[in-house]
Amino acid sequence: MTPEQVTLVQNSWEKVVPISETAAALFYGRLFETDPSLRPMFRGDMAEQGRKLMIMITTVVRGLHNLGALVPAVQELGRRHGGYGVKDEHYATVGGSLIWTLEQGLGPEFTPETKAAWIQAYTILADTMKAAAKEPKQAAA
Ligand code: HEM
Repeated sequence: MTPEQVTLVQNSWEKVVPISETAAALFYGRLFETDPSLRPMFRGDMAEQGRKLMIMITTVVRGLHNLGALVPAVQELGRRHGGYGVKDEHYATVGGSLIWTLEQGLGPEFTPETKAAWIQAYTILADTMKAAAKEPKQAAA
């Protein structure tokens, strides 16, 4: 990602943070509408799940300028997702719901450049998670 793209993602996300509860509800509503078969994979309280998702996205977004430091945590997240039964193809559905949610939340501020930057960020995140889910866990050095 270019430094400009990092800034676009970070500035737009900070506008979503104050409405993160609404954003999470919109996101899961859209996700389960798009693919109802994903609903039974979520076993816990959805408000709590939404909070966890928003915290994780906030952590990643704020750390985009130094992505290397986040890689181990993102890999762990990807391995846990393998355990939840998440398959590669689900990442595209989740990415689509995330972009749609940002469009709803940000309106005209979600410019084509901002959207492209988000797609780039999500793709890096999803690719790191998918790759880690396929690897055996690395032994600690
Ligand atoms: C960039 C992508 C994603 C992020 C940042 C993310 C984030 C999270 C976080 C923070 C949790 C809480 C538990 C944990 O930390 O292990 C979680 C749980 C979960 N996520 Fe994701 N996730 C992503 C992609 C996906 C995808 C593609 C699916 C596919 C449907 C998915 C389905 C689930 C499920 C089923 C759980 C467990 C729910 C439960 O235990 O009830 N996630 N996710």
